[in-house]
Amino acid sequence: MENINWSDLSFGYMKTDFNVRSYYKDGAWGDLEISDSEQITMHMASTCLHYGQEAFEGLKAFRGKDGKVRIFRMRENALRLQASCRGIEMIEFPVELFEKAIVEVVKQNERFVPPYESGASLYIRPLIIGTGAQVGVKPSKEYLFVVFVTPVGPYFREGFKPTPYCIIRGYDRAAPYGTGTIKVGGNYAASLVAGNIAHSKGYSAVLYLDAKEKKYIDECGPANFFGIKNNTYITPESSSILPSITNKSLMILAEELGMKVERRPIPVEELETFEETGACGTAAVISPVSRIDDLEENKSYVFSETGEAGPMSLRLYNKLRSIQYGDEEDKWGWVTVLD
Ligand code: PLP
Ligand code: COI
Repeated sequence: MENINWSDLSFGYMKTDFNVRSYYKDGAWGDLEISDSEQITMHMASTCLHYGQEAFEGLKAFRGKDGKVRIFRMRENALRLQASCRGIEMIEFPVELFEKAIVEVVKQNERFVPPYESGASLYIRPLIIGTGAQVGVKPSKEYLFVVFVTPVGPYFREGFKPTPYCIIRGYDRAAPYGTGTIKVGGNYAASLVAGNIAHSKGYSAVLYLDAKEKKYIDECGPANFFGIKNNTYITPESSSILPSITNKSLMILAEELGMKVERRPIPVEELETFEETGACGTAAVISPVSRIDDLEENKSYVFSETGEAGPMSLRLYNKLRSIQYGDEEDKWGWVTVLD
């Protein structure tokens, strides 16, 4: 442990002590099992390997100034995982069992929850896969739920420093009646090519437009999008984006800070009018956007000339973090404090 440099962590995998599992077989989920193995074994005809029956979640635990560990909004992740399961014909994992698994995995790996001062956190990654053998395109009759944890720093290397994003019109990550609103592995596979192009050109991520008309803003690779103008927090309404729990929280915190909140389609041209823009998510927290280049249209929208985040993004970031780390009262019951 002593050789972990907590303040220098990136967003990646580090081996921890235990993971927690449950197997669905013969029509029922089994009791939670604690494992110290990083491996899983499965049938080569498992549906997750052939037909993409896989869904995952991402949430975080934080260590407060008081040394206590806090888990942020885990019930929301439990419910979203159920929605993902319904969306690809997998068996839903019960909410109470999910919460029990999350608490257990964090407790079992408590020594990996970074110290308060580091600004790092423990990333919690639950997933469900179809493990039953099928060759025809059919849902599995057997499933594995597993949750592991890994200590992480910022998702984008620069953390809270604004970074550039790009619009690439030649790729979509999800279709309007497709799987964009759920968190399934296929969406991320579909985003890898455009993501790599963006990275190779020096951008943090792709800002996707709606797949049908290419008129409206969808989301930022692995995070939702927001813009701020005239003391208003504006975030897209779309049938192909993930309902971000961070974004849902920020909408409430924006109101708390005296801002107006609008959730509606955002035409690309409206980018010109925003004072600040950002990406938000569990991994991204708030990652401010410095500039958005619309590659095919040869157009740039600039938000940060100074290299600093805008004032409202900073206030929202501080407010969210202070609730997560327990520096501020948890009015909304978002935080589970471990004993
Ligand atoms: N959008 C996508 C595509 C994501 O993968 C994520 C990450 O979970 C988000 C948005 C942010 O969602 P949340 O705030 O619930 O982590
Ligand atoms: C998250 O924010 O938890 C994500 O899942 C984003 C990414 C790592 C897929």
